[in-house]
Amino acid sequence: MDFELKTSSRSRVCAEKYDALIVLVPQDMVAGDDAASMLAASAVRAGDLECKPGKLLTTYKAVGISAKRVVLVGAGDASPKSLRSAMAAAVNALKTANVKTVLVSLNALHAVTDRVLQAAVVACADAAYAYSTTKPSSTASKLGKVTFATSDAAMVQAGFDKGLALVKGIELAKEWANRPANYATPVLLAGAAKELGKLPGLKAEILGSKEIAKLGMGAFLAVSRGSDEPPRFIVLRYDGCAKAEAPVVLIGKGITFDTGGISIKPAAEMDEMKFDMCGAASVLGTFRALADLKPAINVVGLIPACENMPDGRSVKPGDVVTSMSGQTIEILNTDAEGRLVLCDALTYAERFKPRAVVDIATLTGACVVALGGVRSGLFAGDDQLGQALMDAGESSLDLCWRMPLDDEYAEGLKTNFADVANVAGRAGGAVTAAKFLQRFSSKFSWAHLDIAGTAWKGGAAKGATGRPVPLLVDYLLGQATMPVPLNVNVKARVAKTRPVPKTRQA
Ligand code: BES
Ligand code: MN
Ligand code: ZN
Repeated sequence: MDFELKTSSRSRVCAEKYDALIVLVPQDMVAGDDAASMLAASAVRAGDLECKPGKLLTTYKAVGISAKRVVLVGAGDASPKSLRSAMAAAVNALKTANVKTVLVSLNALHAVTDRVLQAAVVACADAAYAYSTTKPSSTASKLGKVTFATSDAAMVQAGFDKGLALVKGIELAKEWANRPANYATPVLLAGAAKELGKLPGLKAEILGSKEIAKLGMGAFLAVSRGSDEPPRFIVLRYDGCAKAEAPVVLIGKGITFDTGGISIKPAAEMDEMKFDMCGAASVLGTFRALADLKPAINVVGLIPACENMPDGRSVKPGDVVTSMSGQTIEILNTDAEGRLVLCDALTYAERFKPRAVVDIATLTGACVVALGGVRSGLFAGDDQLGQALMDAGESSLDLCWRMPLDDEYAEGLKTNFADVANVAGRAGGAVTAAKFLQRFSSKFSWAHLDIAGTAWKGGAAKGATGRPVPLLVDYLLGQATMPVPLNVNVKARVAKTRPVPKTRQA
């Protein structure tokens, strides 16, 4: 789908030939004298249109409006959140229709900000998205082009550009997350990273079994043992500023399928464990967005990718393995594999002398019980990092919630047979998992996002959400040494004020 942003007046919007016109109608709309405003005002007056976000009224060949269909949609208080609901409803109403070109009028909103437009663009793409890789017959929406019209396009160009970059990142994350495990093996995931590495400013390095073994990643290899698919350790780099600047490291859990291993999972809904690499997918998506946004920051992405399978060679409950950190781990439950691949990636992260490390993982069913699908679990050993991620969640509408890390939660991880066990009891399962990870993060400022509840949806709408790409992107933009300016074209501004790093000239 193509997006366009242009300056247009309320009356001009009515004269444009599009298959559909979406008019956003906020609760405090000031009526204009153009046909669309009058239509909206009379519908509200008659009680036929509510201004609550997402409430709709659709008409055909309305007098004085050149677009064939008109969708009046309530935009509530015109906040980014309301715009998100409004756009989702409007696009859902149109996507199965014979509609290729859409004009979205933002003219009735009092204030169109960067964040408002960004939310509208992201919601529009999200509603129109359809997975088709292994379902070519999937009726992807016919929507080809969506044009946003506002009274001063230049004012919100930055929000529009950021929206487009986010859409690319979110869609890449969804694509890889949605692919079944036989179309998204560790090797294929590494191939996606290699492709990303061809973009200007990005580099990818892929480590195979031998290199992983040489590094001493005994915990990661223990998980991988039971599978015929070879593991991969993916290292991505985005260099946006001087080499001397310490990078932020993102680590994504990349279990391309989680059967549970010898501690095998029940059959019901096991298919959803193809989504157990959503952390990895979110790292790929974030790097896709960085390539476009070009913030002045260095970022490293690490993805331990493998399958967790039962087999004659699988690791068994009670086996003790030695992690890259040197700590021995008693694997009491082979289904607690995420923390095993992550702990070695955390140790690997030390070599970058990072300013912060954030791991992202579909780590525990307990986190789904605790927070559901609304907010991701946020565990931060460092309050400043915790607050920055919390704030990024709010600003990007990709919410998370701070969870505790009291040392008492680590009691259950004690064992007579190793430095640490990989599981504690059932109680506080999301927290005990985080406490396990924290043992491997003493050398840097660290946070952990448990996205088990937020990374995908089940049921009829089964599919990846692309979360937490928006949160991660906002966090990284906030960490850039030169904050991305508002109301200025991102690319133009960056090019003018910052020398292009060497890596991008190739
Ligand atoms: N990938 C799962 C976590 C998960 C389960 C995410 C269900 C979303 C939905 C993880 O590897 C796992 O199996 N965790 C176990 C840990 C337990 C054995 C301590 C869990 O949550 O049951
Ligand atoms: Mn598991
Ligand atoms: Zn898992």
